[in-house]
Amino acid sequence: MPSDGHSMIWNATPHTIAKFEILSAYLTAWFQILGRTMRGKDLVYIDGFAGPGEYINHPDGSPIAAIKAALIARANSYVAWQAGSIHCAFIEVNPDRYNNLLNRIEPYTARPGLHLHSIRETFVDGLPKLQAQLPSLSSGSPRFVFIDPFGATGVPFSVVATILSSLTSEVLINLDADGISRVMRASENAANAATMDGIFGDNSWRSIRDRGLSFRDESRAALALYQSKLRALPDVNYTFPFEMRSQNGSLNYFLVFASQHYLGLEKMKEAMSRIDCSGAYCFSDAHSEESRLFSFDNPEDYVRQIFDAFRGQAVPYAAVRDYALNETPLTSPKKMLKQLEDEHQVDVRGADLGRSRGTFPDTQIARIEIAFHEEWAKPPGEDSPLMRSLFEGLM
Ligand SMILES: C[S@@+](CC[C@H](N)C(=O)[O-])C[C@H]1O[C@@H](n2cnc3c(N)ncnc32)[C@H](O)[C@@H]1O
Repeated sequence: MPSDGHSMIWNATPHTIAKFEILSAYLTAWFQILGRTMRGKDLVYIDGFAGPGEYINHPDGSPIAAIKAALIARANSYVAWQAGSIHCAFIEVNPDRYNNLLNRIEPYTARPGLHLHSIRETFVDGLPKLQAQLPSLSSGSPRFVFIDPFGATGVPFSVVATILSSLTSEVLINLDADGISRVMRASENAANAATMDGIFGDNSWRSIRDRGLSFRDESRAALALYQSKLRALPDVNYTFPFEMRSQNGSLNYFLVFASQHYLGLEKMKEAMSRIDCSGAYCFSDAHSEESRLFSFDNPEDYVRQIFDAFRGQAVPYAAVRDYALNETPLTSPKKMLKQLEDEHQVDVRGADLGRSRGTFPDTQIARIEIAFHEEWAKPPGEDSPLMRSLFEGLM
């Protein structure tokens, strides 16, 4: 058995299956949107920790999920397809899993417009080899990189930073914050300290270790630090950690998404929101202390938060959109802005006279400015003597 404690193929847990569903939904949208707009450009999916391509109890691993998403997007687009070919590249270091993967992808090797690449290597050493095989990688072709290791090791921050240096690159990282915390706690060992330096790209993790936090808080602090490192990369303005959590509240892992384009995060949230949360797993709000399970479409929860973030400022619509994407689970700020405008907490400027109050048409948002009031206005009548006496009469 490999040293990671799993046999050549293993059973997928419910949260692993949820992960494929997210990947499939997102990639189908990704291939489809870019396929219809990126005229002549190849589209590249890289699975950096590809695995054997199947599970004991589930027919498809992430490589097959990605191939199927590519085929669906092409079939759906038909004559609307503008892009070049789709390239799916799989990097896997374990020889038995790699060979199994080759067998699993073999039926898809001769599909028109789809090129498969497999590399038996570590993620770090496989990427330059892939680059040598695939000139599209250096020509600004859009690429989506799925980074799904077992545990905390094998993903140096410098590699993630290089991937994200391209305008059209996105990553989805399975971040094992528990595992990171465990390595951090054993960092008197020089090899573990070097691993931590690699994960974060520097030794800033030491400030977390030295705070003496509980294991849970330390894992969250590690996530927050990691996210801040991603956000500090040039133009990586969209990052979001999805915390996969069982309904009984125990943490499973974080899926951290990063992109230079707001549409990426919008579509990723839409993919996540399609997961059936009535089952064993759902997402929780990694920002919130209580890490409550969240709804992707419950603007009331965030109206006051967004008001406080922009109180007294006049900002472009895009600034509110970006805040909603990065700091709340919402996929769009529109319902929240409608509530704010209806309650006279903001003034909307720059829109056509024909705009109906509470609506933010896509054709106008580029010139819309939202002026947030200094003070949160109480709902009309809340403090009036009449309202007070009515209220007291009910007591
Ligand atoms: C969690 S599994 C991947 C599962 C797969 N992404 C899926 O969803 O079906 C991690 C895989 O990475 C492989 N692996 C471990 N270390 C690696 C490394 N440094 N580079 C590439 N692959 C590695 C393991 O052999 C294992 O198959």
